[in-house]
Amino acid sequence: MLETKVVCIQCGREYELSAAISGCETCDGLLEVKHNLEALKGVITREWAEKRRVERGFPNGSGVWRWRELVAPFPNEAIVSRNEGNTNLYEDARLAKWAGLENLWLKHEGENPTGSFKDRGMTVGISHANWIGAKYVACASSGNTSASLAGYAARAGLKALTFIPSGKVALGKLSQTMAYGAKTVQVEGSFDDALELVRRVSKEKGMYLVNSLNPFRLEGQKTIIFEALQQLDWQAPDWIVVSGGNLGNTSAFGKALWEMRELGLIGEKLPRIATIQAEGASPFYQYYRSEFTRFKPQKPETVATAIRIGNPVNLAKARRAIEWTDGVVDLVTDIEIMEAKAVLDRSGIGGEPAAGATLAGVRKLREKEIIGKGDLVVAIMTGHILKDADSIVNYHSNPANPGANPLVQMAGTLDDLMKLLEDN
Ligand code: F0G
Repeated sequence: MLETKVVCIQCGREYELSAAISGCETCDGLLEVKHNLEALKGVITREWAEKRRVERGFPNGSGVWRWRELVAPFPNEAIVSRNEGNTNLYEDARLAKWAGLENLWLKHEGENPTGSFKDRGMTVGISHANWIGAKYVACASSGNTSASLAGYAARAGLKALTFIPSGKVALGKLSQTMAYGAKTVQVEGSFDDALELVRRVSKEKGMYLVNSLNPFRLEGQKTIIFEALQQLDWQAPDWIVVSGGNLGNTSAFGKALWEMRELGLIGEKLPRIATIQAEGASPFYQYYRSEFTRFKPQKPETVATAIRIGNPVNLAKARRAIEWTDGVVDLVTDIEIMEAKAVLDRSGIGGEPAAGATLAGVRKLREKEIIGKGDLVVAIMTGHILKDADSIVNYHSNPANPGANPLVQMAGTLDDLMKLLEDN
Protein backbone atom coordinates (compact mmCIF):
# COMPACT_ATOMS: atom_id res chain seq x y z
CA MET A 1 0.00 0.00 0.00
CA LEU A 2 1.41 3.39 -0.92
CA GLU A 3 -0.60 5.23 1.72
CA THR A 4 -0.52 8.57 0.01
CA LYS A 5 -2.04 11.18 2.31
CA VAL A 6 -2.85 14.85 2.41
CA VAL A 7 -1.32 16.68 5.37
CA CYS A 8 -1.28 20.22 6.74
CA ILE A 9 2.25 21.64 6.60
CA GLN A 10 1.53 23.76 9.67
CA CYS A 11 -0.14 21.48 12.23
CA GLY A 12 0.36 18.07 10.65
CA ARG A 13 -3.34 17.11 10.58
CA GLU A 14 -3.95 14.35 8.04
CA TYR A 15 -6.74 14.08 5.50
CA GLU A 16 -7.94 11.33 3.21
CA LEU A 17 -6.88 11.48 -0.42
CA SER A 18 -10.52 11.93 -1.39
CA ALA A 19 -10.99 15.11 0.66
CA ALA A 20 -12.01 18.14 -1.38
CA ILE A 21 -10.47 20.84 0.76
CA SER A 22 -7.98 23.53 -0.02
CA GLY A 23 -6.86 24.52 3.47
CA CYS A 24 -6.50 22.87 6.88
CA GLU A 25 -9.81 22.81 8.76
CA THR A 26 -7.97 23.11 12.07
CA CYS A 27 -5.43 25.87 11.47
CA ASP A 28 -6.04 27.11 7.90
CA GLY A 29 -2.49 26.03 6.95
CA LEU A 30 -1.48 24.91 3.47
CA LEU A 31 -2.07 21.28 2.58
CA GLU A 32 0.32 19.02 0.75
CA VAL A 33 0.34 15.51 -0.63
CA LYS A 34 2.61 13.19 1.27
CA HIS A 35 3.92 10.09 -0.45
CA ASN A 36 5.37 7.10 1.32
CA LEU A 37 8.92 7.68 0.09
CA GLU A 38 10.29 4.86 2.24
CA ALA A 39 8.17 2.37 0.33
CA LEU A 40 9.25 3.88 -2.99
CA LYS A 41 12.99 3.70 -2.31
CA GLY A 42 14.61 1.24 -4.66
CA VAL A 43 11.39 1.11 -6.73
CA ILE A 44 11.68 4.54 -8.29
CA THR A 45 15.11 4.50 -9.83
CA ARG A 46 16.73 6.08 -12.89
CA GLU A 47 16.17 2.82 -14.77
CA TRP A 48 12.51 2.79 -13.76
CA ALA A 49 12.18 6.37 -15.03
CA GLU A 50 13.85 5.48 -18.32
CA LYS A 51 11.50 2.54 -18.86
CA ARG A 52 8.51 4.78 -18.24
CA ARG A 53 9.88 7.49 -20.54
CA VAL A 54 9.76 5.37 -23.64
CA GLU A 55 6.20 4.14 -23.01
CA ARG A 56 3.42 5.55 -25.16
CA GLY A 57 -0.34 5.74 -24.81
CA PHE A 58 -2.56 6.30 -21.80
CA PRO A 59 -1.63 7.31 -19.15
CA ASN A 60 2.15 6.87 -19.22
CA GLY A 61 2.49 8.80 -22.47
CA SER A 62 1.76 11.84 -20.31
CA GLY A 63 4.83 13.59 -18.91
CA VAL A 64 2.89 13.91 -15.66
CA TRP A 65 1.24 10.51 -15.22
CA ARG A 66 4.33 8.49 -15.96
CA TRP A 67 5.44 9.68 -12.51
CA ARG A 68 2.10 8.82 -10.95
CA GLU A 69 3.56 7.06 -7.90
CA LEU A 70 5.03 10.46 -7.02
CA VAL A 71 2.00 12.46 -8.16
CA ALA A 72 -1.29 10.89 -7.11
CA PRO A 73 -2.42 7.26 -7.18
CA PHE A 74 -5.80 7.83 -8.84
CA PRO A 75 -7.36 4.99 -10.84
CA ASN A 76 -7.01 5.17 -14.63
CA GLU A 77 -10.75 5.82 -15.10
CA ALA A 78 -10.45 9.07 -13.17
CA ILE A 79 -7.57 10.50 -15.18
CA VAL A 80 -8.23 13.40 -17.53
CA SER A 81 -5.12 13.86 -19.64
CA ARG A 82 -3.93 15.38 -22.88
CA ASN A 83 -0.46 13.89 -22.72
CA GLU A 84 0.76 17.07 -21.08
CA GLY A 85 4.41 17.59 -20.24
CA ASN A 86 7.09 16.05 -22.48
CA THR A 87 8.35 19.56 -23.14
CA ASN A 88 11.66 20.32 -24.79
CA LEU A 89 14.84 21.36 -23.06
CA TYR A 90 16.64 23.75 -25.41
CA GLU A 91 20.19 24.91 -25.63
CA ASP A 92 20.83 28.15 -27.50
CA ALA A 93 24.30 29.59 -27.81
CA ARG A 94 23.06 33.16 -28.44
CA LEU A 95 20.83 33.18 -25.39
CA ALA A 96 23.59 31.70 -23.23
CA LYS A 97 25.97 34.38 -24.43
CA TRP A 98 23.39 37.11 -23.84
CA ALA A 99 22.98 35.90 -20.27
CA GLY A 100 26.76 35.55 -19.79
CA LEU A 101 26.68 31.79 -19.34
CA GLU A 102 28.30 28.68 -20.79
CA ASN A 103 25.65 26.17 -19.77
CA LEU A 104 22.11 27.46 -20.13
CA TRP A 105 19.12 25.22 -20.78
CA LEU A 106 15.58 26.42 -21.37
CA LYS A 107 12.69 24.16 -20.48
CA HIS A 108 9.71 25.30 -22.49
CA GLU A 109 6.51 24.78 -20.57
CA GLY A 110 4.68 26.84 -23.18
CA GLU A 111 4.69 23.61 -25.20
CA ASN A 112 1.95 22.12 -23.04
CA PRO A 113 -1.52 21.50 -24.57
CA THR A 114 -3.04 24.86 -23.57
CA GLY A 115 0.27 26.71 -23.78
CA SER A 116 1.48 26.93 -20.20
CA PHE A 117 2.89 24.85 -17.33
CA LYS A 118 -0.54 24.97 -15.70
CA ASP A 119 -1.60 21.89 -17.64
CA ARG A 120 0.75 19.74 -15.59
CA GLY A 121 -1.08 20.68 -12.42
CA MET A 122 -4.48 20.89 -14.01
CA THR A 123 -4.52 17.30 -15.22
CA VAL A 124 -4.03 16.24 -11.60
CA GLY A 125 -6.52 18.72 -10.09
CA ILE A 126 -9.24 17.89 -12.62
CA SER A 127 -8.59 14.15 -12.31
CA HIS A 128 -9.03 14.48 -8.55
CA ALA A 129 -12.27 16.44 -9.05
CA ASN A 130 -13.43 13.77 -11.48
CA TRP A 131 -12.48 10.95 -9.11
CA ILE A 132 -14.41 12.36 -6.15
CA GLY A 133 -17.45 13.21 -8.28
CA ALA A 134 -17.26 17.02 -8.32
CA LYS A 135 -19.62 18.67 -10.79
CA TYR A 136 -18.37 22.24 -10.82
CA VAL A 137 -14.74 23.35 -10.81
CA ALA A 138 -13.60 26.91 -10.14
CA CYS A 139 -10.50 29.09 -10.02
CA ALA A 140 -9.24 32.65 -9.92
CA SER A 141 -6.62 33.41 -12.50
CA SER A 142 -4.31 35.87 -14.16
CA GLY A 143 -5.18 33.94 -17.32
CA ASN A 144 -3.27 30.71 -17.76
CA THR A 145 -4.91 28.75 -14.96
CA SER A 146 -8.34 29.73 -16.31
CA ALA A 147 -7.41 28.67 -19.86
CA SER A 148 -6.06 25.37 -18.59
CA LEU A 149 -8.99 24.79 -16.23
CA ALA A 150 -11.46 25.55 -19.00
CA GLY A 151 -9.76 23.13 -21.39
CA TYR A 152 -9.45 20.24 -18.96
CA ALA A 153 -12.96 20.76 -17.56
CA ALA A 154 -14.31 20.63 -21.10
CA ARG A 155 -12.48 17.34 -21.70
CA ALA A 156 -13.90 15.92 -18.49
CA GLY A 157 -17.42 17.23 -19.07
CA LEU A 158 -17.34 19.31 -15.90
CA LYS A 159 -18.76 22.80 -15.53
CA ALA A 160 -16.16 25.51 -15.00
CA LEU A 161 -16.24 28.93 -13.41
CA THR A 162 -13.33 31.38 -13.48
CA PHE A 163 -12.75 34.76 -11.87
CA ILE A 164 -10.27 37.09 -13.53
CA PRO A 165 -9.01 40.60 -12.83
CA SER A 166 -10.92 42.94 -15.11
CA GLY A 167 -8.88 44.19 -18.09
CA LYS A 168 -5.67 42.56 -16.87
CA VAL A 169 -5.69 39.21 -18.62
CA ALA A 170 -3.82 38.79 -21.92
CA LEU A 171 -6.12 38.19 -24.86
CA GLY A 172 -4.74 34.76 -25.79
CA LYS A 173 -5.63 33.45 -22.35
CA LEU A 174 -9.00 35.17 -22.12
CA SER A 175 -10.06 33.92 -25.54
CA GLN A 176 -9.02 30.34 -24.72
CA THR A 177 -11.05 30.42 -21.51
CA MET A 178 -14.13 31.64 -23.34
CA ALA A 179 -13.69 29.22 -26.23
CA TYR A 180 -13.37 26.17 -24.00
CA GLY A 181 -16.66 27.18 -22.40
CA ALA A 182 -15.84 28.27 -18.85
CA LYS A 183 -18.14 30.87 -17.33
CA THR A 184 -15.83 33.83 -16.89
CA VAL A 185 -16.44 36.55 -14.34
CA GLN A 186 -14.44 39.79 -14.41
CA VAL A 187 -13.61 41.15 -10.99
CA GLU A 188 -12.71 44.75 -10.20
CA GLY A 189 -9.29 44.60 -8.57
CA SER A 190 -6.31 42.28 -8.85
CA PHE A 191 -5.79 38.53 -9.04
CA ASP A 192 -5.61 38.55 -5.24
CA ASP A 193 -9.16 39.96 -5.00
CA ALA A 194 -10.40 37.38 -7.51
CA LEU A 195 -8.79 34.60 -5.47
CA GLU A 196 -10.43 35.76 -2.27
CA LEU A 197 -13.77 35.73 -4.03
CA VAL A 198 -13.38 32.26 -5.49
CA ARG A 199 -12.31 30.85 -2.14
CA ARG A 200 -15.55 32.16 -0.67
CA VAL A 201 -17.67 30.97 -3.57
CA SER A 202 -16.19 27.49 -3.61
CA LYS A 203 -16.69 27.11 0.14
CA GLU A 204 -20.25 28.43 0.20
CA LYS A 205 -21.42 26.79 -3.01
CA GLY A 206 -19.50 23.53 -2.77
CA MET A 207 -17.48 24.05 -5.95
CA TYR A 208 -14.17 22.28 -6.42
CA LEU A 209 -11.30 24.81 -6.17
CA VAL A 210 -8.40 24.28 -8.57
CA ASN A 211 -6.04 27.12 -7.66
CA SER A 212 -2.57 26.15 -6.53
CA LEU A 213 -3.90 26.06 -2.95
CA ASN A 214 -5.12 22.72 -4.18
CA PRO A 215 -2.28 20.38 -3.21
CA PHE A 216 -2.80 18.11 -6.23
CA ARG A 217 -1.96 20.91 -8.65
CA LEU A 218 1.53 21.19 -7.23
CA GLU A 219 2.10 17.44 -7.48
CA GLY A 220 1.67 17.75 -11.24
CA GLN A 221 3.95 20.78 -11.46
CA LYS A 222 6.73 18.83 -9.74
CA THR A 223 7.13 16.80 -12.91
CA ILE A 224 8.73 19.82 -14.63
CA ILE A 225 11.73 19.11 -12.43
CA PHE A 226 11.62 15.31 -12.68
CA GLU A 227 11.52 15.59 -16.45
CA ALA A 228 14.31 18.18 -16.65
CA LEU A 229 16.58 16.07 -14.45
CA GLN A 230 15.94 13.05 -16.62
CA GLN A 231 16.62 15.07 -19.78
CA LEU A 232 19.95 16.12 -18.27
CA ASP A 233 20.77 12.47 -17.66
CA TRP A 234 20.43 13.09 -13.93
CA GLN A 235 23.21 15.60 -13.82
CA ALA A 236 21.69 17.97 -11.28
CA PRO A 237 21.94 21.60 -12.41
CA ASP A 238 23.45 24.26 -10.16
CA TRP A 239 20.42 26.50 -10.62
CA ILE A 240 16.76 26.30 -11.51
CA VAL A 241 15.37 29.72 -12.35
CA VAL A 242 11.65 30.50 -12.59
CA SER A 243 9.40 33.54 -12.53
CA GLY A 244 7.16 33.65 -9.47
CA GLY A 245 3.69 35.05 -8.81
CA ASN A 246 1.47 32.92 -6.61
CA LEU A 247 4.59 30.79 -5.97
CA GLY A 248 3.10 27.43 -6.83
CA ASN A 249 6.05 26.50 -9.04
CA THR A 250 8.66 27.58 -6.51
CA SER A 251 6.88 25.41 -3.92
CA ALA A 252 6.47 22.44 -6.25
CA PHE A 253 10.10 22.60 -7.39
CA GLY A 254 11.35 22.51 -3.80
CA LYS A 255 9.24 19.44 -3.05
CA ALA A 256 10.32 17.75 -6.29
CA LEU A 257 14.01 18.21 -5.50
CA TRP A 258 13.54 17.06 -1.94
CA GLU A 259 11.80 13.88 -3.10
CA MET A 260 14.40 13.15 -5.78
CA ARG A 261 17.12 13.36 -3.16
CA GLU A 262 15.20 11.18 -0.68
CA LEU A 263 14.82 8.55 -3.39
CA GLY A 264 18.50 8.75 -4.28
CA LEU A 265 17.95 9.88 -7.87
CA ILE A 266 20.13 12.93 -7.27
CA GLY A 267 22.94 13.57 -4.80
CA GLU A 268 22.89 15.34 -1.45
CA LYS A 269 23.44 18.86 -2.76
CA LEU A 270 20.21 20.23 -4.19
CA PRO A 271 20.14 22.59 -7.15
CA ARG A 272 19.45 26.13 -5.96
CA ILE A 273 16.10 27.63 -6.85
CA ALA A 274 16.04 31.26 -7.98
CA THR A 275 12.59 32.84 -8.04
CA ILE A 276 12.27 35.97 -10.17
CA GLN A 277 9.54 38.51 -9.52
CA ALA A 278 8.49 41.60 -11.43
CA GLU A 279 9.51 44.77 -9.62
CA GLY A 280 5.91 45.97 -9.33
CA ALA A 281 4.71 42.64 -7.93
CA SER A 282 7.52 41.58 -5.64
CA PRO A 283 6.17 40.81 -2.15
CA PHE A 284 8.15 37.57 -1.98
CA TYR A 285 11.35 39.38 -2.89
CA GLN A 286 10.73 41.93 -0.13
CA TYR A 287 10.00 39.12 2.32
CA TYR A 288 13.23 37.36 1.28
CA ARG A 289 15.16 40.61 1.71
CA SER A 290 13.88 40.85 5.29
CA GLU A 291 15.33 37.36 5.84
CA PHE A 292 11.77 36.11 5.95
CA THR A 293 10.86 38.21 8.95
CA ARG A 294 8.40 40.71 7.48
CA PHE A 295 5.79 39.98 4.84
CA LYS A 296 3.67 42.74 3.37
CA PRO A 297 1.14 42.24 0.56
CA GLN A 298 1.44 44.66 -2.38
CA LYS A 299 -0.87 46.33 -4.83
CA PRO A 300 0.67 44.68 -7.88
CA GLU A 301 1.42 46.15 -11.31
CA THR A 302 3.54 44.75 -14.12
CA VAL A 303 3.54 44.24 -17.86
CA ALA A 304 3.88 40.50 -17.17
CA THR A 305 0.21 40.12 -16.20
CA ALA A 306 0.67 36.39 -15.41
CA ILE A 307 2.70 37.34 -12.34
CA ARG A 308 0.76 40.46 -11.38
CA ILE A 309 0.14 39.10 -7.88
CA GLY A 310 0.53 40.95 -4.59
CA ASN A 311 -0.38 38.35 -1.96
CA PRO A 312 0.89 34.89 -2.95
CA VAL A 313 -0.97 32.07 -1.27
CA ASN A 314 1.89 29.58 -1.38
CA LEU A 315 4.17 31.82 0.64
CA ALA A 316 5.00 29.33 3.41
CA LYS A 317 5.80 26.52 0.97
CA ALA A 318 7.84 28.79 -1.27
CA ARG A 319 9.87 30.04 1.67
CA ARG A 320 10.55 26.45 2.61
CA ALA A 321 11.69 25.70 -0.96
CA ILE A 322 14.12 28.63 -0.93
CA GLU A 323 15.46 27.58 2.46
CA TRP A 324 15.78 23.91 1.53
CA THR A 325 17.73 24.68 -1.62
CA ASP A 326 19.76 27.65 -0.42
CA GLY A 327 17.85 29.54 -3.06
CA VAL A 328 17.54 33.22 -3.87
CA VAL A 329 14.78 35.63 -4.84
CA ASP A 330 15.36 38.58 -7.13
CA LEU A 331 13.37 41.06 -9.15
CA VAL A 332 13.47 42.52 -12.66
CA THR A 333 11.89 45.65 -14.10
CA ASP A 334 9.22 45.67 -16.80
CA ILE A 335 11.78 47.04 -19.27
CA GLU A 336 14.17 44.19 -18.45
CA ILE A 337 11.32 41.70 -18.86
CA MET A 338 10.34 42.95 -22.30
CA GLU A 339 13.93 43.24 -23.52
CA ALA A 340 14.68 39.69 -22.41
CA LYS A 341 11.47 38.52 -24.02
CA ALA A 342 12.47 40.14 -27.31
CA VAL A 343 15.81 38.28 -27.20
CA LEU A 344 14.05 35.02 -26.30
CA ASP A 345 11.57 35.46 -29.14
CA ARG A 346 14.31 36.36 -31.60
CA SER A 347 16.09 33.09 -30.79
CA GLY A 348 13.13 31.28 -32.33
CA ILE A 349 12.10 29.76 -29.00
CA GLY A 350 9.86 32.52 -27.70
CA GLY A 351 7.62 32.88 -24.69
CA GLU A 352 5.17 35.17 -22.94
CA PRO A 353 6.40 38.05 -20.75
CA ALA A 354 6.61 35.88 -17.61
CA ALA A 355 9.10 33.69 -19.51
CA GLY A 356 11.02 36.87 -20.36
CA ALA A 357 11.11 37.57 -16.61
CA THR A 358 12.85 34.23 -16.02
CA LEU A 359 15.49 34.95 -18.65
CA ALA A 360 15.99 38.53 -17.43
CA GLY A 361 16.49 37.09 -13.95
CA VAL A 362 19.14 34.65 -15.17
CA ARG A 363 21.08 37.51 -16.70
CA LYS A 364 20.71 39.67 -13.61
CA LEU A 365 21.92 36.94 -11.25
CA ARG A 366 24.88 36.33 -13.54
CA GLU A 367 25.70 40.06 -13.58
CA LYS A 368 25.64 40.07 -9.78
CA GLU A 369 27.93 37.02 -9.89
CA ILE A 370 25.46 35.03 -7.85
CA ILE A 371 25.31 32.59 -10.75
CA GLY A 372 28.78 31.60 -11.94
CA LYS A 373 29.78 31.68 -15.61
CA GLY A 374 30.24 27.91 -15.83
CA ASP A 375 27.19 26.99 -13.70
CA LEU A 376 24.65 24.65 -15.22
CA VAL A 377 21.41 26.62 -15.30
CA VAL A 378 17.91 25.45 -16.17
CA ALA A 379 15.54 28.33 -16.89
CA ILE A 380 11.82 27.61 -16.97
CA MET A 381 9.86 29.28 -19.76
CA THR A 382 6.38 29.24 -18.26
CA GLY A 383 4.13 30.25 -21.17
CA HIS A 384 3.79 30.29 -24.96
CA ILE A 385 4.71 33.26 -27.18
CA LEU A 386 1.13 33.66 -28.45
CA LYS A 387 -0.45 34.00 -25.03
CA ASP A 388 0.11 37.75 -25.02
CA ALA A 389 0.29 38.97 -28.60
CA ASP A 390 -0.63 42.53 -27.63
CA SER A 391 2.55 42.92 -25.62
CA ILE A 392 4.59 41.86 -28.67
CA VAL A 393 2.93 44.22 -31.12
CA ASN A 394 3.23 47.10 -28.64
CA TYR A 395 6.91 46.41 -28.07
CA HIS A 396 7.87 46.05 -31.72
CA SER A 397 5.82 49.05 -32.83
CA ASN A 398 8.22 51.35 -31.01
CA PRO A 399 11.46 51.49 -33.05
CA ALA A 400 13.31 52.84 -30.00
CA ASN A 401 12.99 49.49 -28.20
CA PRO A 402 16.07 47.23 -28.40
CA GLY A 403 15.62 44.64 -31.13
CA ALA A 404 12.34 46.22 -32.27
CA ASN A 405 11.00 44.87 -35.56
CA PRO A 406 8.29 47.34 -36.59
CA LEU A 407 5.95 46.69 -39.51
CA VAL A 408 6.97 48.14 -42.85
CA GLN A 409 4.37 49.92 -44.97
CA MET A 410 4.41 49.04 -48.67
CA ALA A 411 4.91 52.23 -50.61
CA GLY A 412 6.51 53.07 -54.00
CA THR A 413 8.17 50.48 -56.23
CA LEU A 414 9.77 47.16 -55.28
CA ASP A 415 13.15 48.81 -55.76
CA ASP A 416 12.16 51.48 -53.21
CA LEU A 417 11.21 48.70 -50.82
CA MET A 418 14.51 46.84 -51.32
CA LYS A 419 16.41 50.04 -50.69
CA LEU A 420 14.46 50.66 -47.50
CA LEU A 421 15.18 47.11 -46.25
CA GLU A 422 18.89 47.49 -47.02
CA ASP A 423 19.06 50.82 -45.19
CA ASN A 424 17.69 49.09 -42.15
N1 F0G B 1 4.40 32.29 -15.55
C1 F0G B 1 3.18 32.19 -16.08
C2 F0G B 1 3.08 32.18 -17.57
C3 F0G B 1 2.04 32.11 -15.25
O1 F0G B 1 0.84 32.02 -15.81
C4 F0G B 1 2.20 32.16 -13.86
C5 F0G B 1 1.05 32.13 -12.96
C6 F0G B 1 3.51 32.25 -13.36
C7 F0G B 1 4.58 32.32 -14.22
C8 F0G B 1 3.78 32.27 -11.91
O2 F0G B 1 3.67 31.00 -11.37
O3 F0G B 1 2.07 31.39 -9.53
O4 F0G B 1 3.43 29.32 -9.66
O5 F0G B 1 4.48 31.50 -9.10
N2 F0G B 1 -0.14 32.21 -13.34
C9 F0G B 1 -1.33 32.00 -12.49
C10 F0G B 1 -2.59 32.01 -13.31
C11 F0G B 1 -1.37 32.79 -11.27
O6 F0G B 1 -3.65 32.32 -12.76
O7 F0G B 1 -2.54 31.68 -14.47
P1 F0G B 1 3.41 30.79 -9.82
